[in-house]
Amino acid sequence: MELNGKRIVLGVTGGIAAYKSAELLRLLVRQGADVQVAMTEAATRFVTATTFQALSGKPVYVDQWDARMPNAMAHIDLSRQADLILVAPASADFMARIANGMADDLLATMVLARDCPLLLAPAMNRQMWENPATQRNVARLLDDGIGMLGPASGAQACGETGPGRMLEPEEVADAVVDFFVPKVLAGRRVLITAGPTFEAIDPVRGITNLSSGRMGYAIARAARQAGATVTLVSGPVALAAPPGVDRIDVRSALDMHAAVLERAAAVDIFIAVAAVADYRVANAAAHKLKKDHGGVPTIELVENPDILAEVAALADGPFCVGFAAESQNLEAYAQAKRRKKNIPLIVGNLIQDGFGGDDNRLVLFDERGSHPLTPASKSVLARQLVDHIAKLTGPN
Ligand code: C5P
Repeated sequence: MELNGKRIVLGVTGGIAAYKSAELLRLLVRQGADVQVAMTEAATRFVTATTFQALSGKPVYVDQWDARMPNAMAHIDLSRQADLILVAPASADFMARIANGMADDLLATMVLARDCPLLLAPAMNRQMWENPATQRNVARLLDDGIGMLGPASGAQACGETGPGRMLEPEEVADAVVDFFVPKVLAGRRVLITAGPTFEAIDPVRGITNLSSGRMGYAIARAARQAGATVTLVSGPVALAAPPGVDRIDVRSALDMHAAVLERAAAVDIFIAVAAVADYRVANAAAHKLKKDHGGVPTIELVENPDILAEVAALADGPFCVGFAAESQNLEAYAQAKRRKKNIPLIVGNLIQDGFGGDDNRLVLFDERGSHPLTPASKSVLARQLVDHIAKLTGPN
């Protein structure tokens, strides 16, 4: 419920992508938003108001002179106290009208009379998008501080391929969630490690740690939502990179070490969430080991570099955050680890609380002591951790 308590006006204008807005509305409502839909006359040619009414649980308005508004001020009443107006799809015609401050229908009047931010998700044919007139309008709208979500490039309803497709409903809904997250890490560069490492024994076998990568990915997403530029160095996991995050895939601890050390000096914050294997195989075989060759093989192990400790030791290095997954004595072990690695903040969790699942229980340990967070989903905890990091690192 990431949009709990948020009041959103969803404007729908005339384009074939209007059918995607029904799904978008459902996603916004599912996240807890209170959504008032307003459509242009043209939009009702593509999808009926009844669809949006059923999904929002509220009457849908199209007409400026709607008799349901006793004071004839639908444009003011409907967007009063709105936290955001989102127009999806935003047609070329609609953008042209609002770029020029026109108020010739209800939705355009609401946009002109608003005192909240406005986001547009353009949708139109490729040639309409590329037309200099549209590009001029887009530049003007951006200049007016209006947010633009997309458009994407790809197959179009008209049979052509190119820029102008509306973003998918999930992408628009994600962008709306992002929009509301306070930008406590604006302008910061954040490097994060996540997932396990895999240490090869031979080409098909290896040693690894159990780690789903979910906590690290949730932190990458939260840092991005908070305005940071995020690079995620990830061991092998079955997760998609969060939107807007630069993901670098690695396999072994040595790969991860190289990828991190190459970038660490250029970032402001380093968060080591990966479950790095402590040892790698010294005598890894180039070919698959055969069972019938010379009895039980012996695997020799050699210690891996401690990536976090190395970054923490850099002169002028980033603010470092570590993780301590323990099965007991959380506070004592976590604080000892924090001091040993010489880092300002370590996040402790008991393995039995969070492994592989959606929820977790975290305790933050810094110089001032311990700060237990209320058990919650990994995304909620990630946001709290990001806020704590923002507090400790101070303003930009
Ligand atoms: O030393 P230990 O593995 O218990 O510490 C855990 C913390 O150190 C985690 O933040 C983990 O990502 C990081 N770490 C690392 N490189 C290693 C081992 C752990 O960055 N080789």
